[in-house]
Amino acid sequence: MSVAIRSAKPDDATAIARLHALTHRATYAPLIDGPYEAPSPSRRLAEWQAALAGSGLTLVAVEGDRIVGFGHAEGDRIEPLHVDPAYHRHGIGRALMRDLLDGLQARAVSSAIFNVFARNAKAIAFYEALGARRTGTETMTDAPVPYLDFVYEIETGLGSLRPASFHAPRKHAAPR
Ligand SMILES: CC(C)(COP(=O)(O)OP(=O)(O)OC[C@H]1O[C@@H](n2cnc3c(N)ncnc32)[C@H](O)[C@@H]1OP(=O)(O)O)[C@@H](O)C(=O)NCCC(=O)NCCS
Repeated sequence: MSVAIRSAKPDDATAIARLHALTHRATYAPLIDGPYEAPSPSRRLAEWQAALAGSGLTLVAVEGDRIVGFGHAEGDRIEPLHVDPAYHRHGIGRALMRDLLDGLQARAVSSAIFNVFARNAKAIAFYEALGARRTGTETMTDAPVPYLDFVYEIETGLGSLRPASFHAPRKHAAPR
C-alpha cells in the first residue's frame, strides 16, 4: 500500500463528498436510534466546495488517484476526519491527524478541539490512543433526536503521532 497525505484541491470536492457519504453511513447508521437519514449528495458537495474555497485546512490521504481519507480543520476545530473503511487500521487516520496538527501548529494554534459522538467507540479509541483528552460533553440538537457528544482537546505539538510508515493492520486477539 502506498498512501500519501496532501492538501486538498478545489477539484477534490466531488471525491471527498462521495467518500464522506460512504463513511458517514458506515459509521453512524449502526449507531443511531431510528432510521439513518443521509444528508443529500448536493448538500454534501456544496459543503465541501465551500470548505475547499475557505481558509480552513483540508488534507486528503491518497492511494494513487483515489482519495481514501480526509481531515478538515477550521480555526482550532478539527472535524470531520474519516478514512475509507477498507483502509482502516493502516495508520492513515494517525497520519492525517499528525499533519492536521502540524498545520494548525504552523498557524499558531496550540491545541485543537473536536466533538465525537458518544457512541462512536472506535473513534474514541482512536483519538485517545493519539493522546486526546476528554474535556466535557455536549447535547446536540441538530438531528430529529438529540444526541450526546464527547468534547476532546489535543495539543498540536505532539511528536508522538509520528508513525514510522503506513503499516498492515495489527492482529488483535479480541474482535473489534
Ligand atoms: C477513527 C478513524 C479515523 C481511524 O482511522 P484509521 O486509519 O483506521 O486509524 P489508524 O490506523 O491510524 O489507528 C491509529 C491507532 O488508533 C487506535 N484505533 C484506531 N481504530 C481503532 C479501533 N477501531 N478500535 C480500537 N482502537 C483503534 C489504535 O491504537 C491504532 O493503532 P494500531 O492500529 O497500531 O493499534 C476511522 O476508524 C474512521 O474513519 N472512522 C469512521 C469516521 C469517524 O468516526 N471519524 C471520527 C469522528 S469525525
